[in-house]
Amino acid sequence: MFPAAGLGTRFLPATKAQPKEMLPLVDKPIIQYGVEEAVASGANNIILVTGRGKNAIEDHFDVSVELETFLEARGKRDQLFEVRKISSMMNLSYVRQGEALGLGHAVLVTRDLVGDEPFAVILADDVIDADPPATKQLIEVFERLKGPVLAVERVPREDISSYGVVAFEPNTRLGEGIYQVRDLVEKPPKEEAPSDLAIIGRYVLTPDIFPCLAKTKSDRTGEIQLTNGLRELLKSRPIYACEVKGVRHDTGNKLGFLKAVVYFALRRPDLAGKFAEYLTSLDLTAAAKR
Ligand code: G1P
Repeated sequence: MFPAAGLGTRFLPATKAQPKEMLPLVDKPIIQYGVEEAVASGANNIILVTGRGKNAIEDHFDVSVELETFLEARGKRDQLFEVRKISSMMNLSYVRQGEALGLGHAVLVTRDLVGDEPFAVILADDVIDADPPATKQLIEVFERLKGPVLAVERVPREDISSYGVVAFEPNTRLGEGIYQVRDLVEKPPKEEAPSDLAIIGRYVLTPDIFPCLAKTKSDRTGEIQLTNGLRELLKSRPIYACEVKGVRHDTGNKLGFLKAVVYFALRRPDLAGKFAEYLTSLDLTAAAKR
């Protein structure tokens, strides 16, 4: 499931009439990177939690008869293939969140659609270039340890208060980069963070998270936090954290977004050469002083 009901105020005015999930990294919307990751990880039922102003996401993943007819008539086979691929990738369902009451609430509104099965939560803002895909790495740990798994990454202390943070038990038997969670805390002040392991936007969860979320009170920002729901769940079963092997970009802030555009452009055979040439021609010392 993909929570996608946020307002995207950090990217105004670009997001005034367009969902932030549709901002492109080169020529592919951010949300499509996440959906492709889910599909490559073995998920074929995708739930998108949306809200007002998010129709462009639904249109993007829908069949576009006019566009396909146009591309077919012009013999644009490659583009036709790309466009068809998007709408044929998976089954999509949409559920509206109504009010933006937090990530925990977004997960809770998918309760009936998810049913009694394990499921993954993907926060599309975190775009992770990894092989195997990040969600697949978590699923492998989930299948082995039979418990919920969160993706984590070590982050510098000064950034830690932007994340959910995990306190963990040292347990070398679990495997390299895998931890048993002892506690979780959402966006602690840096002096109070129990470690430098931050939750990044991937979770493989079990349906017993739903009653825990239903019990979770909103925090002082008025939001129901998934981290707090997980804390409740931790009372009844072990939860694991897994350091994902790959490169993560936080496209939810401007600098992270720009870095991701450059990163993905430099991985494109049709653009890399000329783009790298352009980048090396820039006078970066002057820009850095601005
Ligand atoms: C959310 C979660 C946080 C997590 C982060 C990862 O916060 O609440 O625990 O560390 O995603 O991106 P948000 O960035 O939506 O404020």
